[in-house]
Amino acid sequence: MGGERPQADYEAPACAEPVEHTALRPKAGTGTRRADLLPTRAAETTLAKVLNRRFLGKSPLAAWLRLNERAFALLPSGALKLRAVQAYARCLHTLVRMCDSRTMYFGTFFMRNRPQLDLVLRLVGQRDPTAPALKVLVVACSIGAEVYSLVGTIRSRSPGINMTVTAIDVSADAMEFARRGRYPLYGCEFTGENIFERLTAEERTNLFESSGDCLSIRPWVREGITWLTGDAADPALAGQLGTHDMVFANNFLCHLHSADSEQCLRNIVRFVKPGGYLFVSGVDLDARAKVVKDLRLVPVTDLLEEIHAGDPSLIKDWPFRYWGLEAFDPQRADRDQRYASALRVPMRDPQVGDAAWA
Ligand SMILES: C[S@@+](CC[C@H](N)C(=O)[O-])C[C@H]1O[C@@H](n2cnc3c(N)ncnc32)[C@H](O)[C@@H]1O
Repeated sequence: MGGERPQADYEAPACAEPVEHTALRPKAGTGTRRADLLPTRAAETTLAKVLNRRFLGKSPLAAWLRLNERAFALLPSGALKLRAVQAYARCLHTLVRMCDSRTMYFGTFFMRNRPQLDLVLRLVGQRDPTAPALKVLVVACSIGAEVYSLVGTIRSRSPGINMTVTAIDVSADAMEFARRGRYPLYGCEFTGENIFERLTAEERTNLFESSGDCLSIRPWVREGITWLTGDAADPALAGQLGTHDMVFANNFLCHLHSADSEQCLRNIVRFVKPGGYLFVSGVDLDARAKVVKDLRLVPVTDLLEEIHAGDPSLIKDWPFRYWGLEAFDPQRADRDQRYASALRVPMRDPQVGDAAWA
């Protein structure tokens, strides 16, 4: 993620409501678990100012983090697995997130998280074939690689599937690029990374046709996708989009401050049908765990660890980049709530299942 180009015209979506300045206030009656202690946006800003304070023109914290980064680079490969080292690294990551300013990126890859796609196929396979069309929504889709990977994979494995796909991003330029589905072989203005690097040769031939120095998405993959420009944090959006069987909101909430990402995630849950699935990775784990707990989302444990570790670009950047993702810790008591990026939205009446899914 580090090599991506920042989004030039990005303005972080504001929280829907101004937040009360009640930093680090535990949730009433539940004890003080870490996920309940998310600072508010105002508290985050104040903390960042204090932590980034400079003496003689230099930031002591930045210097200390740089020193730690160098020391970590010298550690033998097994050392990061030690519990004491992990606990220390988690503290460092918390500090990095508190003092680092956020930038939104467009960076993306085709077939970015393969285990997540495997789970999608398993879930699609469990659907009643007579159920109405599968409704899919991809939020913050950037230049479309995630959407085409998903649609190409589902249509290849379930030919003739009846599904509707909507993709949305806050950037009109990225949406226009995505809609065209023409990707220059040697990079584009949106990302400095090789977006094809995770594709096998077979997938590349399956998804694209070659046109000069570009690869163009094949018509059978492109057809039937609705591309929209919109802000996922907009409370009015759920009314316009309706609800979906599967919603994907990957790799953009980590670029928001915790309180904003929590607020935005709560809004995104409203795009999912009761009984449907939400896939949300690349997000502050404390913020996601809080929403999972508050809204009683059900963690999907199938391929839990594989999906968590499914995007190497996030794991390698932990703990010294704010978007870095901690390694899966199987010992944690809150393991499923913390690490599941596939979540099921409960039915309104828990006694009634969803007939569309087995
Ligand atoms: C790093 S890209 C992620 C692309 C893709 N989801 C993936 O996983 O590869 C982040 C995208 O989020 C979009 N974005 C940021 N804030 C948004 C918002 N509030 N609503 C919709 N899209 C947003 C940005 O424009 C950018 O295209």
